[in-house]
Parts: sequence; structure tokens; C-alpha cells
Amino acid sequence: MTSTATAHPNIALAKYWGKRDDALIIPATGSLSLTLDVFPTTTSVTVSDDAADAVELDGAALAGEESNRVRSVLDRVRELSGRTEKARVVSVNTVPTAAGLASSAAAFAALATAAADAFGLSADDRMLSRIARRGSGSASRSIFRGVARWNAGTDDESSYAEPLAWHGPALAMVVAIVSSKRKAVSSRTAMRRTVETSPYFAAWVASSATLLEQMSDAVAAGDLETVGELTEQSALRMHASMFGAVPPVRYLSAASLALFDTVLNLRSDGIEAYATADAGPNVKVLCRSDQAAEVVAGLSAVIPDADYVVAHAGPGAHIVDG
Ligand code: DP6
Repeated sequence: MTSTATAHPNIALAKYWGKRDDALIIPATGSLSLTLDVFPTTTSVTVSDDAADAVELDGAALAGEESNRVRSVLDRVRELSGRTEKARVVSVNTVPTAAGLASSAAAFAALATAAADAFGLSADDRMLSRIARRGSGSASRSIFRGVARWNAGTDDESSYAEPLAWHGPALAMVVAIVSSKRKAVSSRTAMRRTVETSPYFAAWVASSATLLEQMSDAVAAGDLETVGELTEQSALRMHASMFGAVPPVRYLSAASLALFDTVLNLRSDGIEAYATADAGPNVKVLCRSDQAAEVVAGLSAVIPDADYVVAHAGPGAHIVDG
């Protein structure tokens, strides 16, 4: 039996950075994100009689750490469905892998959705979110369309994402791709180093809890200005926590900082635009859909050699015809 699912990346507005449980991927903080309508990943899972799981990403066999993460999702699906067969997994990514463009979120959301279906597990979205979380924390949010909040929780059962309603202006996310190179330090390693060595990590955790509640209230009120200002604060505080690690982790480049500055200037020109960045130098700018073209024009005037992609709120993970 083969099942195929598609999922899209999400970009955190309130960031997840740091785990309290590395094995179960229970985060130190809750987070809130927007699922996009670009760069989907499509994954097929076939239940097999093979002796071991086999995983292929973009035509190449996966081994090591990445295939272990796939196996932890498959193991969880086997455990929940009471089955023991192995699986063949074939995944096709449309986003440069590991360049801070959230490819793992889409990949593990698609994997959880396809694997549950292939193994005959009737899982609701909350359960799929918990299964996807075992592969990559941020994948828990890509199960859902649009705005989603991942409640940190304290154990496997209480750590899941859920959708939030957004009644504000239609949103866009301008993705400025300044580099598609694989990052030098994986987010998993950088996160662990921040938890273990950064004196700012405790302050990051404490301030994130307050920020998440403020942002959730602003989402409920459809208040883009507050959501946007908190988005920038969350991103900069997350990066500040990494600057404090030993050795320091710095994903932002000169081009990233120039883009953050440009976004500030756009705001003083009356454009509602707010910058964020993840585990890489690429910058994502949250704005109104009807101002996205002006945002691209403003950013490309300052950094002309980046690639700009305009994304909107996208769908949750779903089964597609193989
Ligand atoms: C900076 O979800 O990739 O994008 O749980 O170790 O797989 P693991 O980490 P991952 O980290 C995402 C970090 C981030 C912020 C975010 O998406 O919230």
C-alpha cells in the first residue's frame, strides 16, 4: 500500500529555539507560524516486506542523522498502528534543502501524513502534529494551513500545534533568498549549543512565553502591526541567544542585516512590513498581500542580487493521489 502526501513549509513569527527533551522534541518555548503556499514537499510511503526502512530524498538514498529522524517518525506510526513492517519512503523537495527555508518542516509533515495513511492509522490533525514533531519540531505546525500555534507542552501528548483563525488583512511573506548554500551548522546542533552554553538562553525562554501570549492575542484581533512588531522582536531575540553561545552561532549575513534595515525604512514610508530570519541568512518579510509588490521593489533596490519569492498563506498537509 502506497500513500502520498504534500505539505508546505511554515515560517515562525514567534520562534521555536531550544528543546527541553531532545528525544521527544518537546520545545522549551511555544511558537506561532504561517504556513506558506510555496516550496511544497511531496512524500510517498510504501509499506514493504524489506528488512529495513529505505529513504530517498530527491533521488538520493538518505543515511545518518537525517534517516534516523525519518525512522523515528516511522517507528512512532508503527507503534501507534500496532504494525511492524518496514517502509520505503520517497520524498521530493522543491526548496533548497537546509538553507534556512524550512524544508524539514514540510518534509516531516508530509512524511507523518503519508506514513499514517499507509499504515492504516486513523490519526486526527492533532495526532499527526505530534507524530510530525518527532521528525522535526517545526513540522508540527506544517500540518495546519495558515496561522498555527505549537503549544510547548510538557510531554508527547501535550506538545502539539493547532490552527488559529486570522481575520486581519490577507497576508503575504516575501522570501528574500540571499543564499541557497547548505548551512554550516545545522539548526539542531546550534539549538543544543545555545541551550547548553548561552547565558541568554534563560532570558530567551522567559521572554518568549510572554511574547507568544501577546502575539496570540494580536492574531485573534487581526492586528497585523502588533503581530509584525512581535515577529521582529522574536527573531532578533532568538538570534541574540545564539550570539551568546560558545562558540557563537551567527546565521545572519551583512545582506540579511541590510534587508532588516530596509524593512524598517519601508515602515517609515507607510508600508506594513516586518522582517524575520531563521537558521540561515535568508530573510522573510511579513506584509499585506496588497503591499507585497512594493516590498519586493523596496528590498530589491537595496539587495538586487537576491531572489525574491512572494508567498501567501498556504494549505495544511494533505493526502494526494500518488
Ligand atoms: C529557526 O524544527 O528545524 O526555524 O526540531 O531540531 O528539527 P528540530 O529543529 P527545527 O528548528 C526550527 C528553528 C527555526 C524557528 C522555528 O521554525 O520556529
